[in-house]
Amino acid sequence: MNFNMSKCLEAFSLALDFAEMDYLKVTMHHSRRVAYISLNIGRAMNFSDEEIKDLYALSLLHDNGLTLAGLKLKKLDLMESLPEHCIEGEKNLKFIPLYKRRENIILYHHENYDGTGLFKISREDIPIFSQIIHLADSIDVNFNLPQLESTKRIEVEQYVVRNKNEFFAPAVVDAFLSFSHKERFWADLSFYNVTEVLNRIAPQITYEYLWEEIIPISDTFMKIIDSKSKFTYRHSTGITEKIEIMSDFYGFNTEKKFKLHIAANLHDLGKLYIPNSILEKPDKLDTFEFDEIKKHTYFTRLALDKIPGFEDISGWAANHHEKLNGRGYPESLTAEALDFESRLMGVIDIYQALTEERPYRKGLSHKETMKTIHSMANGDFIDNQIARDVDNVIGDGIKDKDG
Ligand SMILES: [Fe+2]
Ligand SMILES: [Fe+2]
Ligand SMILES: [Fe+2]
Repeated sequence: MNFNMSKCLEAFSLALDFAEMDYLKVTMHHSRRVAYISLNIGRAMNFSDEEIKDLYALSLLHDNGLTLAGLKLKKLDLMESLPEHCIEGEKNLKFIPLYKRRENIILYHHENYDGTGLFKISREDIPIFSQIIHLADSIDVNFNLPQLESTKRIEVEQYVVRNKNEFFAPAVVDAFLSFSHKERFWADLSFYNVTEVLNRIAPQITYEYLWEEIIPISDTFMKIIDSKSKFTYRHSTGITEKIEIMSDFYGFNTEKKFKLHIAANLHDLGKLYIPNSILEKPDKLDTFEFDEIKKHTYFTRLALDKIPGFEDISGWAANHHEKLNGRGYPESLTAEALDFESRLMGVIDIYQALTEERPYRKGLSHKETMKTIHSMANGDFIDNQIARDVDNVIGDGIKDKDG
């Protein structure tokens, strides 16, 4: 199918921006502004169309390694997380399609031109894309760009000029100064405008793709989602494994298997929007916090609905907390509206969650888990037949393993 990578990037980068806000207290839309500034620099430097497309993808995803770095370091601290998020982010990028293989762009996106950065790389050894992202990122982190008074713009320009040859490559600084005097540039960076402007000026990236080629991209994002919290670092992985087992059991065709795999990978994409102070709270959640948690499936749908061709996937992923009796969320769907795949995702999600450790309880065994699942099926919350199938099929697998 024709896969619209721009829309896919838009969906994921927005979710990543929320996570970054939570971790580093940067202002909303950090990666969008970095992408917007980078695109302007790239165009001022007369990059080719294909270079512009790759620069756009890489600048939007430049901080994709943050959740993995956070998981490794237990707590995210801006300074400590710097090398880790570069290393993890670079590894992930191997699975994101670009027009040309571009090594080390993410790895070196915090290098200084004079070699005083994280990995002590200097001058031409730093890929030009990294040099551009570094300048865009630095001004966004150091200045409140979305709400900058016109009198302060000069300070940004002075900062860039002062650090020419030290932090920033001279050619990149010159390219930036070629448009930074324009009123429009600053207006585009406001909270209200940046998304729309980016939609308007961003390159359209589309690929002719098979479903199986989208799997590695979604596997990568699954890792990013899972590592948002130490309590869920295996959650989506576990669900994807079990969805595959059940797909084989039901004899689904290949396309449906791939789509279900992707839906399982991405079902909790919306968790990136939820602060870890809520996701990892050791005590009972208050009403506000529970309301917030419940929004994660809403955000999953909001993000996945942006991607053409993902209609089924978006539904199956985002319906995993709906219940047959209408007591689920966010749409309060009822049995008639919940297709088999959504029901299956719902049962597997509960199964997986109950077997995992949570801040307030230990993980349950298969037997204990099935007790809860069967009682939910009897209460008309979830599908009875699927509950029995999961008991048999997944239960069998566990018996096999243990004995
Ligand atoms: Fe970064
Ligand atoms: Fe950044
Ligand atoms: Fe969920």
